[in-house]
Amino acid sequence: MSNTNPLSNAQIRAFLGAHPWSDSIHIFDEVGSTNTLAKELGAKGAPSGTVLIADRQTGGRGRLGRSFLSPGDMGMYFTLILRPECRPQELMHLTCAVAVAMCDAVEAAFGFRPGIKWTNDLVVGTKKLGGILTELTLNPKNGMVDCAILGIGINCRQNAEDFDESIRNMACSARMVTGEDADRNLLAAEMIRALHRMDADLFTGKDAMLSRYRSHCITLGKEISILRGDDVFHGTAVDMDAEGGLIVRLVTGEIQTVTSGEVSIRGLYGYI
Ligand code: BTN
Repeated sequence: MSNTNPLSNAQIRAFLGAHPWSDSIHIFDEVGSTNTLAKELGAKGAPSGTVLIADRQTGGRGRLGRSFLSPGDMGMYFTLILRPECRPQELMHLTCAVAVAMCDAVEAAFGFRPGIKWTNDLVVGTKKLGGILTELTLNPKNGMVDCAILGIGINCRQNAEDFDESIRNMACSARMVTGEDADRNLLAAEMIRALHRMDADLFTGKDAMLSRYRSHCITLGKEISILRGDDVFHGTAVDMDAEGGLIVRLVTGEIQTVTSGEVSIRGLYGYI
C-alpha cells in the first residue's frame, strides 16, 4: 500500500485545535519502542503531557514481555507521559481508564466503538484491534510515582494479509472494520483529547470510569482460563472490583481476584 497517510505533527495539531498538550507532540519515523524512549525522556524531566508517536517500532513491547509487531505506515504507536503525584498503589485502575479513553477516541475518529478484553486489549468481535501497556517509574527517594508511561498500539491501515500469519486470525484493523482508510493523524488527535480528559478525572471519576469499563468489557460473564506462569486455572469472570481487578469464580467454587500485572486471560476456545 502506498503511504497516503503520513504522520504529521501539523495535521494532528490542526485536528486538535487549541490544546494544552499541542506543543509537546513528537513524531518519529522509527524508534525501538515509544515506551522505552518515554522512560528515557521522563528520567530527563520531560513534562506531563509529552506525547511520542512513531510510524514504526523495531522493538514494540506488549504485556508480559511479549512483542508488539509495529510495521511502518500501518498502525498507531503512541506513548503519553503523565506525572500524577501519588503512590503506585493509587493507580491500579490506570490501564482501565486508558482503555475507556481509547474506546472514546476510536469512536470519535472512526465511528465504531471497540470492546475491551480485560484488561488491556481493544477488540472488535473476536479480533484484537489494539493493546495498552502502562508502565510506572518511581522516585527512588520516596517511592512515589515519577512517571506513568501510557503506551497504546492500534492497528489502523492493515488489510488481513498485512498481518503476520501467526496473528492473522486474531487481529483486525480500523480499515478492516470500516472498509475505509483510517486517518492516523485524526486518531492521534482524538487520543490526545480523550487522554487529557482521562487525566483530569483520573481520581475523581474513578467509579464512573469503571462502570463504563464494565459495560464495554467482553470478558465479564465468560468462561475463561487464567494463565499464571506455568499454571492454568479455569473459571468464570463474574465482576470487577473497585480497582479494576477481575473477580473470577474458579471451577472449584473458590473466588479469586486477579490483577492485570500477573496473568493472561484466554477464552475457553482461543483469544476471546
Ligand atoms: C499488548 O497488546 O500487550 C500491549 C501493546 C502495547 C503496544 C504499544 S505501541 C506503543 C507503545 N510502545 C511499545 O513498545 N508498546 C506500546
